Amino acid sequence: MIDNKTKILGLFGYPLEHSFSPLLHNQAIKELGLNYAYFSFPVKPDLLKDAVSGLRALNFRGVNVTIPYKEKIIPYLDELDSLAEKVGAVNTIVNNDGILKGYNTDVIGLKRMIEEDAGYTLQGYRAVVIGAGGAARAACFTVLQGGAKELTILNRTGEKAVLLAESVEKYYPSVDIKGLSFQLDKECRKIVENANIVIDTTPVGMSPAIEVEPIIPEKWLNPGQLIVDLVYNPPITTLLKAAQKAGTAAINGKGMLLYQGIEAFKIWTGLEPNVESWKKLI
Ligand code: ATR
Repeated sequence: MIDNKTKILGLFGYPLEHSFSPLLHNQAIKELGLNYAYFSFPVKPDLLKDAVSGLRALNFRGVNVTIPYKEKIIPYLDELDSLAEKVGAVNTIVNNDGILKGYNTDVIGLKRMIEEDAGYTLQGYRAVVIGAGGAARAACFTVLQGGAKELTILNRTGEKAVLLAESVEKYYPSVDIKGLSFQLDKECRKIVENANIVIDTTPVGMSPAIEVEPIIPEKWLNPGQLIVDLVYNPPITTLLKAAQKAGTAAINGKGMLLYQGIEAFKIWTGLEPNVESWKKLI
């Protein structure tokens, strides 16, 4: 029931047709018996600043932020959580009496998925991140926060991998971090073969173009490794199929979506949604 006391939550992004967030958060609100409501707000690019002012003016409790605004929204906020500041991306905003604070729950969401769903720790790992965009940046901080000892970023455009490596290594000077151009050559093969975890953050294999060559050849993979593909539609990409054939543990990015939402919900309400009922919804 929506009444005078209902607290408003929502999602800023553009476009937004495919997001699961309204479904998940409204389910949690219902299950926990809270007087909140979560709406989808497809904010047009030239109106982002006005939309943030609207959060304050209309006393929203908070919003999630998704593509393409995770970085662009930062200048309009009052405070940043230290992790969001390092990552340079915000996916959750909370409004505390008109003070808007930005958080990044993608990193903790991915970390929970790797640790709880896949059952791996990151401590002392050699990690490979494929891609050099926003999702790759979150993946880099995830493995570094988890205690990885080595991180190699491989990207189609090599310079972007080098720049990403340079921008994260200042926070983790004792970790061996490098960025390289991703080629199907001996050097990249050796790096992938020696990795404990490989996280693919590229859209390769995402619906509708699902019948593609896996971004890493099957023969580069080996048992004992964990392969993470952040794509979850389809649930098993060609990379995950290759990993399964190679006897390698493989997981898609659905858990990251769930756990980042759980962390956001906790920030707004102080309560934890039931992850099992969320899993049934998507
Ligand atoms: P996101 O915010 O989801 O990370 P992004 O910033 O657009 O999205 O980054 C996508 C990443 O996937 C980029 O690193 C991109 O490589 P380039 O830097 O060379 O553009 C990578 N990517 C996209 N399509 C790819 C493909 N077909 N093969 C390899 N890498 C690809």
